[in-house]
Amino acid sequence: MGLDRLEAQAKKTLPKAVYEFYSGGAETESTLRDNRNVFQRYKLLPRLRPASLTVDMSTSLLGQPLSMPILIAPTALQCLAHPDGELATSRAAARCGTAMVVSTNATHGVDEVAATGNPFLMFQLYVFRNREAVRGLVQEVERLGYKALAVTVDVARPGNREADTRNAFAVPAHLRVKNLDWAKTHQNVPSPSSGNPSQAAAQHDYAAAVPMPSSDGATQAAARSHQASRQDGADHSGQTADQAAPYHSMHANVYDQALTWEFIPWLRTITRLPIFVKGILSPLDAHIALDHGVDGIMVSNHGGRQCDYALATLDVLPSITAVANRRVPVIVDGGIRTGADVLKALALGADGVMIGRPVLYGLAVKGQQGVEQVLETLRIELQASMVYAGCSSLKHINRRLLVSTSGYGQ
Ligand code: FNR
Repeated sequence: MGLDRLEAQAKKTLPKAVYEFYSGGAETESTLRDNRNVFQRYKLLPRLRPASLTVDMSTSLLGQPLSMPILIAPTALQCLAHPDGELATSRAAARCGTAMVVSTNATHGVDEVAATGNPFLMFQLYVFRNREAVRGLVQEVERLGYKALAVTVDVARPGNREADTRNAFAVPAHLRVKNLDWAKTHQNVPSPSSGNPSQAAAQHDYAAAVPMPSSDGATQAAARSHQASRQDGADHSGQTADQAAPYHSMHANVYDQALTWEFIPWLRTITRLPIFVKGILSPLDAHIALDHGVDGIMVSNHGGRQCDYALATLDVLPSITAVANRRVPVIVDGGIRTGADVLKALALGADGVMIGRPVLYGLAVKGQQGVEQVLETLRIELQASMVYAGCSSLKHINRRLLVSTSGYGQ
């Protein structure tokens, strides 16, 4: 099944507010659309090749093997799609031989995801206002065997997503964003950046912003009933609106909205894990990131969910791979839905791609199996595209495979 059909099925399965939270973008959704549309600009020129061409899609990242250059992007609140949430995604990634980037806003704790035994987990970090909380969480993921950090830098403000406002989208009371317990534990410890006068008030608001059910048992039972109601086809999206704070307030109250590059050298002092920055669009920022010693760049506009009218990621990718100049890996995400899309991103210089929403749709439709289906669909499609393009391994993929239609034959 192509990934578009899977999305259509997920739309039927999920409560409307959840589907709109997953699928939506910021404001006019211009960037959301552009992320997809930009792939139209590049075409392939298939060649006749020997039928025996075998294709090797294997690669590595940070010395870790990957069966293909397709990774799982961090996405929040996966238990809204399926009660196994991030656990199912992690198992699917491991089965398919690829990496998963686990979100700070996961609905399972970093320890629970690590316990699935996935050998290549990365942790996506939203930087808490409180640096001691950051230290605690980062050192915990390092201890648990996560292989790298991805610091998300495109969330200086919560994205303005109109559907979420209309739906009063909130984290349902039966789900916990367990990684935020770190921020809760440290809410009374002063942070190095405590020059911010609103901080004390923000920390006071924190308990209200993040629902904390009293026991895991209660959480699981509620998750099961959520799943049952989903299967009824009932829309219970509003059922917890009075018990839970809007998702936005979590961003504003807990996360550092005044993040600067100084954070990267500080992070180095507390961890030996490789550091990616996620959310780079400007080549100038790519330069600055490299000057701050990052180990990798993730070109991303958060799937069009943050700054509307930000450039599409495929548009900025070549200028950023030029800056990186193979010194560090460059991963790109946004709108990748077919194997040909993956080929195009690699041809424009990416070392790998990440997929966000399709994973959530796979989870919603069939849990772990659905996520595996998403990854295997992309694998088969990438293999076919590579055969058409005459590439027997990833190192044969380069810019010359792509034709920009406006210029061809003129
Ligand atoms: C995201 N994304 C995201 N990014 C991040 O760094 N931390 C997060 O918690 C989340 N959460 C999140 C939730 C949902 C519902 C979506 C759709 C996206 C952004 C994500 O990592 C990635 O950049 C985009 O999803 C990639 O675009 P596609 O593949 O969804 O088009």
